[in-house]
Amino acid sequence: IKLLFFIIIIKILTQLTGPLLVKVTPVVNHSKDGFFMYFAFGSNLLKERLQLKNPSAVFHCVGRIQDYRLNFGLSGDCTDCAWHGGVATIQESEGDEVWGVVWRIDSQNLPSLDRQEQVHEGVYSPLEVKVETKEKPLLCRTYKMNNFRPCSPSPQYKKVVCLGAQQNGLPQNYIQKLLALETNNYSGTSILDQITDIQKLPA
Ligand SMILES: *[C@@H]1O[C@H](CO)[C@@H](O)[C@H](O)[C@H]1NC(C)=O
Ligand SMILES: *[C@@H]1O[C@H](CO)[C@@H](O)[C@H](O)[C@H]1NC(C)=O
Repeated sequence: IKLLFFIIIIKILTQLTGPLLVKVTPVVNHSKDGFFMYFAFGSNLLKERLQLKNPSAVFHCVGRIQDYRLNFGLSGDCTDCAWHGGVATIQESEGDEVWGVVWRIDSQNLPSLDRQEQVHEGVYSPLEVKVETKEKPLLCRTYKMNNFRPCSPSPQYKKVVCLGAQQNGLPQNYIQKLLALETNNYSGTSILDQITDIQKLPA
């Protein structure tokens, strides 16, 4: 009798927790935990740039997304932006990969990150990507440009992307590709001037 009870209780428990577990594991909405994971591949590779608007960002790891390529451009009929040139986005491309940094960010900085990516203006849209890391793959939030139009980045934007890649130890051959990017030779002020800690970084 005792054994029967035991079996019945186990059955009930597994029935109760079974669906719960199935429901809980695929959920990647980390904002419930007070933070979320963000995959950066452009100027937000650089900690000092990301923390300008999102001070809670903490380095988590380096990773890559597969079947995407890195591109630089502007959205729609936008002819200029704060960076005075094209900015980074990802585009589906079989066999390619994009390296980046996974940042752990407090949920309270989700609105500031969305604002920086101009989500409400329709410039970028958030999406979820599977990031391959040294350990298990991570589902992260990232952003993709809408109405992409190719445009070379400014030297200032390129500098921030390259500094970020070096700062966080992206693979050398990937850094070389970033360093080889053509720019639009813009000279003038840009967001780069706001990154006051830049002097402390290696050139
Ligand atoms: C994530 O969870 C929070 C808090 O429960 C909720 O406000 C938000 O809308 C959710 N986001 C998504 C994309 O499901
Ligand atoms: C930028 O300058 C380099 C070196 O002077 C030149 O080769 C390149 O064509 C210039 N690019 C543009 C877009 O003006």
